[in-house]
Amino acid sequence: IDPSLDLVAEILKLKKEKNAVILAHYYQDSELQDLADFVGDSLALAQAAAKTQADCIVFCGVHFMAETAKILNPTKPVYLPDLDAGCSLADRCPADVYAEWLKQYPGHYVVNYINSSAAVKAMSDLIVTSSNAVALVDMIPKDQPIVFGPDRHLGKWVEKQTGREMVLWPGFCIVHEQFNARRLAALMAAHPDACVIAHPECEEAVLAKAHFIGSTLALLNYVKTHPEHKKFVVNTEVGILHQMEKARPDAEFVCAPPNSGCTCATCPYMRLNTLEKLYLCLKDGQPELHMDEDLRVKSEVPLRRMLEWSA
Ligand code: 13P
Ligand code: SF4
Repeated sequence: IDPSLDLVAEILKLKKEKNAVILAHYYQDSELQDLADFVGDSLALAQAAAKTQADCIVFCGVHFMAETAKILNPTKPVYLPDLDAGCSLADRCPADVYAEWLKQYPGHYVVNYINSSAAVKAMSDLIVTSSNAVALVDMIPKDQPIVFGPDRHLGKWVEKQTGREMVLWPGFCIVHEQFNARRLAALMAAHPDACVIAHPECEEAVLAKAHFIGSTLALLNYVKTHPEHKKFVVNTEVGILHQMEKARPDAEFVCAPPNSGCTCATCPYMRLNTLEKLYLCLKDGQPELHMDEDLRVKSEVPLRRMLEWSA
């Protein structure tokens, strides 16, 4: 790429020429979020992908998100600036191992987090995201046993909120797993006036210290609607701070300390997408996400159920 090229201007020009919609998750670089037509959490992005009228979808997020867009809107080409942008939750729940594990639980209702591969989705009765998991699990008849995957922390939180026991697949997100209750306690002692907010992918001991728990969108909405708090300690990927800081210029945002010794936690998968790759993706029409049609049809069933139940 010619270093003198104005990438932002080129991307906007190509986006118009190709009638593309750019969807971005809150964990993307700020410059990608600012270029997107729509920024959202996993649920809002799935809903936006399902109903877009654009000719093609460029997904600034990770593989399972782009795959979800393709499942829900199969006639549109879906591009992901870097096809290797995976997710530790999805990658550590291989479909063949999961299928064997499931055999131990016949008669169970199979609920899976949207952070899973299409092959795992195809084995599910219902897909949930962190913003609707509690409400949707609550809608399952009380006498119906449930297995829940692949995030054990989200699963545990849903169990607490709904008062139901579920069989949990032992998966975790490598980004949220890094938040640590002891380090958080020390940070809270240094900022006694701060409101602590956390994503439910964090472990139970961290969540126990939070004043509010929710999906990325729920966390952003909480910050927007609580002007009485002037300082927030944020237990999730640092990308979300971009929209929080825009919405609340009067407030201070402090990253909860990850174990890595870094100041803030970043998702290495999400960060594989860059301005350069977004430009090349729009210019060349690749990498494009392709799916086996049989798998797409099977994985669409529990995803559509999620959209219907959350409408
Ligand atoms: P939400 O945006 O649905 O809160 O999910 C967070 C996440 O980790 C996405 O991979
Ligand atoms: Fe997956 Fe965690 Fe990254 Fe989200 S933050 S994409 S759950 S690895």
